[in-house]
Amino acid sequence: MRRCGQLARLVFSRLGATKTTTSSATAHRPFSSAVPLARAATTPTNLSQAQEATAPVRDTACRKSHLDIATDRGAYDERTIPRVTSYSVSQVHVTTDGKHVQVTWDDGKVSEYHTLWLRHTCFCPDCKFDGNGQPKLEYDQVPSDLHVTSAVDDGEGCLVVQWKGEEEHTGVLPLKWLRFHCYSDQSVHEMRDTIKMRYSNDTTIPRVTFEEVMESDQGVLRWVTILNQRGICIVEGLPLELGMGRKVCERISRSVIPTIYGFIEDVKSRPVPINAGYSTDELKLHQDLVYYSSPPGMQALFCLKFDKDIEGGESIFSDMFHIAETFRKQHPEDFKVLATVPATLDTIHYKRAFPVHMNVKRPMFTLNDYGDLTGVRYQPHHLGPLQVNDEFIEPFYAAYKKFYALTNNWPYTFKYRLQPGDMVSYNNRRMAHGRVAFTYRSGQERHLQGCYLNVSEFKSCMQTLANLVGDGRIAQRVGDYDYQ
Ligand SMILES: [Fe+2]
Ligand SMILES: [Zn+2]
Repeated sequence: MRRCGQLARLVFSRLGATKTTTSSATAHRPFSSAVPLARAATTPTNLSQAQEATAPVRDTACRKSHLDIATDRGAYDERTIPRVTSYSVSQVHVTTDGKHVQVTWDDGKVSEYHTLWLRHTCFCPDCKFDGNGQPKLEYDQVPSDLHVTSAVDDGEGCLVVQWKGEEEHTGVLPLKWLRFHCYSDQSVHEMRDTIKMRYSNDTTIPRVTFEEVMESDQGVLRWVTILNQRGICIVEGLPLELGMGRKVCERISRSVIPTIYGFIEDVKSRPVPINAGYSTDELKLHQDLVYYSSPPGMQALFCLKFDKDIEGGESIFSDMFHIAETFRKQHPEDFKVLATVPATLDTIHYKRAFPVHMNVKRPMFTLNDYGDLTGVRYQPHHLGPLQVNDEFIEPFYAAYKKFYALTNNWPYTFKYRLQPGDMVSYNNRRMAHGRVAFTYRSGQERHLQGCYLNVSEFKSCMQTLANLVGDGRIAQRVGDYDYQ
């Protein structure tokens, strides 16, 4: 088998030298790719001819298809795209200028790929590293006059492409991968619809149990899927031990992330609070740590103690994306202002063990190139002095006033009194949280432990588990300012 791998590399890497390689390979009949690669450069591009050109050699013990080779090298992993079920090809056509390859799939869909796009994404051993599939193509070596001379379906799951320019190259691209990554207007539109955040008016917080999350990947998948779809979920039944919330969160990611409050934040009232969270005051809806250039994604608050006699202290949560989209409908001009005029978000506090001086200047709403809302930063308690042209001051405050009012009068706000053993988890990029003021007498205590996870790792957990042990559904937007 080892010899197969060596020969595979030889065939892939010897561009324009396939005849020599073929004769050498044929003696051992290691795999069929030697034959189609040699023919691919000259054959027409319809399916029947392509199939003829790529007729596999079946009577060998050591035969490998292009797809097998890419998979065995670890450059391609089919598990990453389980939702693609239809990717049989009915026709492949190269445009006369050699700039595009059009693939007509069996279900009638047509995908068109630019020659530079195909060249950059080639899966051959020269173009992708073994073991991880990361591109290793040195793009400055790609000739400017690059054009495709032939492209054929090898009949075994790959498109074999021959390029000519200042130099030649033969490459392979898995058809399933090509289908998933089709970038036609229709495909991009469908993907935008798939990943669109969905909103709900239901104000009951969904729940999962400590046992299911700790015992199986399916349990974690159920948790992160709810978090992805609704933005919030309670894990119930945690043992009342310090640090238990962190242990549960680390079922999603290798580690919680440290902030200016450390890895774990103890939220309880203190005589001199360094943060409004450590008082007994009301906390208006807000997202945490928006003065970081990259605020944490998932946040969890684990309730260790909450004496029954304490009055108030209920937690509140609202979906800022739902509110912002409603705001866009009600006040489109004000929405534009908050999407373009940069707010200042800061925390400047020197009376603490580790002094902090942070500020960022960003609009409250981030839109992508299609105008889709991809990020919200909202924290009235950390809204700093505007640093913008004077002409933007009035429009900004007029828009902010309306948005602030809408947020604080939002009818679909979750209100819940945490019970000891509950851990409320939510996507901080999406859900704002707050707290009703509370009063307590000596001996009574409300003690929560908070921690955070990176938003990309949270999304990654959702996608990998969905692909590995779930139905392969695609993660919805998570508010990470991503342009998808
Ligand atoms: Fe907070
Ligand atoms: Zn290549």
